Amino acid sequence: TYVVTENCIQCKYTDCAVVCPVDCFHEGPNFLAIDPDECIDCDACVPECPAEAIFPEAELPPGQEKFLELNAELAKNWPVINVKKDALPDADKWNGAEGKLQYLKK
Ligand code: SF4
Ligand code: F3S
Repeated sequence: TYVVTENCIQCKYTDCAVVCPVDCFHEGPNFLAIDPDECIDCDACVPECPAEAIFPEAELPPGQEKFLELNAELAKNWPVINVKKDALPDADKWNGAEGKLQYLKK
């Protein structure tokens, strides 16, 4: 499966959700999560993310491993998103900021 990692938090550009052929993105207040049971590993979402927040599970950057479980858990509780929405208001400011996990709203 592919995994949305920390840099999505507070950005939520949503460009990823539009291109997913199997609608496996789920939307929370300030993060999107991929349903690992639906993702077909097509790679289409990776280049779309302005925050470069999406990785195959085998290539998660150091410190981002916990997002594998987190995506699975959050995707269960959140509705599907398959359209482009406005990014969060300060997305460009938050893009690349350290330590965003503490701001994740579930
Ligand atoms: Fe969807 Fe493909 Fe990205 Fe998986 S890799 S989340 S199937 S666009
Ligand atoms: Fe998040 Fe990037 Fe998608 S910031 S909403 S993973 S386009």
